[in-house]
Amino acid sequence: MCGIVGFTGSENAAPIILGGLEKLEYRGYDSAGIAVLNEGKINITKVTGRIAVLNEKTENGALLPGTAAIGHTRWATHGAPTDTNAHPHKSNNGKFAVVHNGIIENYLELKSSLTEKGYYFESETDTEVVVHLLEMYYNGDIKKCVRKVASKLKGSYALGILCTDEPGKIFATKLSSPLIIGIGAGENYFASDVTALVNHTQNVIYLEDGEYAEISPYEIKTFDCTGAEIKKAPSRIDWDIQAAEKGGYEHFMLKEIMEQPRAVKSAITPRIKDEKIVLEDLNLDLSKVRNILITACGSAYYAGCAGKYTIEKLCRIPVQVELASELRYSDPIIDESTLLIVLSQSGETADTIAAMKECSKRGAKTLAIVNVVGSTIAKLADFILYTHAGPEIAVATTKGYTTQLTLLYLFAVYAANNLGKITQDEYKNLINELASIPKLLQNTIDMNSKIGNTAKRYFNTDSMFFIGRNTDYALALEGALKMKEISYIHAESYAAGELKHGTIALISEGTPVIALLCNEDITEKTMSNILEVKSRGARVLAVCFNDNKKITMLANDIISVPRFNSIFSPILEIVPLQLLAYYVAKLNGCDIDKPKNLAKSVTVE
Ligand code: F6R
Repeated sequence: MCGIVGFTGSENAAPIILGGLEKLEYRGYDSAGIAVLNEGKINITKVTGRIAVLNEKTENGALLPGTAAIGHTRWATHGAPTDTNAHPHKSNNGKFAVVHNGIIENYLELKSSLTEKGYYFESETDTEVVVHLLEMYYNGDIKKCVRKVASKLKGSYALGILCTDEPGKIFATKLSSPLIIGIGAGENYFASDVTALVNHTQNVIYLEDGEYAEISPYEIKTFDCTGAEIKKAPSRIDWDIQAAEKGGYEHFMLKEIMEQPRAVKSAITPRIKDEKIVLEDLNLDLSKVRNILITACGSAYYAGCAGKYTIEKLCRIPVQVELASELRYSDPIIDESTLLIVLSQSGETADTIAAMKECSKRGAKTLAIVNVVGSTIAKLADFILYTHAGPEIAVATTKGYTTQLTLLYLFAVYAANNLGKITQDEYKNLINELASIPKLLQNTIDMNSKIGNTAKRYFNTDSMFFIGRNTDYALALEGALKMKEISYIHAESYAAGELKHGTIALISEGTPVIALLCNEDITEKTMSNILEVKSRGARVLAVCFNDNKKITMLANDIISVPRFNSIFSPILEIVPLQLLAYYVAKLNGCDIDKPKNLAKSVTVE
């Protein structure tokens, strides 16, 4: 969703801001803008559409001289995506410009009181109240003024500010939306995520809720919510610029699919020591855990659905998986014996954060499985397991999902051993199987190098079905989501045994059905369901182990994965489904990395 960037240094700021905004494009946006402070005046350019249009309009920033600037990509919430609603917004007296990520929940109330006082609003946005409040409360002391304004705001915000009285400076403050300060040499930055910064620096400061920063080329001053100056230790980002670029692939999504063996290896290898699983950050007495609740949104939720089977099978603890957007309002029955596992790639998903806070309040211990270091979810959790997937730029998650599954598997085996539910031999075998996943993932990718050809038989359709049972059903959910979000083809996921209770009415001549058969215990059952849909005309693409001979008689097309323990096989099985969605979307000419209407990090409810 919205992204912000700020820069101050000795060179012209606009090209740097535009470059940073390009790096934030992946978050999803529909308009963009930039404000540059030059000779006591703030000049703003805003456009509807892509950063390329902003580049064109400003001649790659050359038309906007000045060494301090702020920029924004907007994903419309309050008001349509128009030039006027795009950020930055300027105060009526021209003294302030503001960019904002988040939502000001009490903006209507603030807007009406500001309008009564004579402030003129240009846009329909919630953000514009901030810039007028800055004008209203300013009496020459910007720090005091920002604190006063912050005290009036309800909701979430990361704010970047320019003030004509403060040449060469940019200002930032935040509440419940991420904001990171980048430390350069004779130049400094802020951004809503590190991908906008890694081009320039890997040294960063994470601003916490209520904190405020005054940033000039040679100095970064940070203050807590009482206004007292604080010293914040810098952190080092372990992502480099190559990780955030396409590296020769046509799309980030394809690159990230191909990166999965490496990403999963980074998640597993440091956690297996002397033939034992070591989860140093999980300092929890598991014998006190009576039930596990997994919560997340979208694909992360589906990773939880797949992980549930593995945890229950190995640990014999009941596991419930709930959508965060539902859990937060469901008055959940939770107490100190509940372990809440929160899954999130970005660590900033608003519904997941809210569900997590609700469950913590009711006594649950929280374990976060997160990719982005220092993200809100990581900070809120009692225990953190980072997925170490590296930056995920494509909107549709791939390596984010597989690394979440990896951590759930590691947790399941670790907990089963800890609780004495498996023998030492079983423990060793399971660890060996976990350690073999990166290689098997690579084999799966290699085995499916011809999937682009298979996709040619499946791209020209309005709708398709994904069916499976148990873990295969959990995979069907994620496979269908991948297909929908990047190819815009309606894809329905169904528990294979449920089809005959209604949905089979939708199967007709040529309807594509993707049947998942990597759960050995129930493969035969799903085969019967394949027969049912085939006899009604379906074209069946089966995803199965490479030694499944029977399926050749049933399916029209087959995608194989290496034979593997069914409790871990979803991690292999998802790869061909990702590739299928990718090639189907490509054949349909879709914007694969930036699908319409979607945002990477969903920071609104
Ligand atoms: C789908 C996708 C989304 C995310 C969901 C949660 O490909 O990426 O469904 O999985 O928005 O995001 P995180 O994991 O960042 O909390």
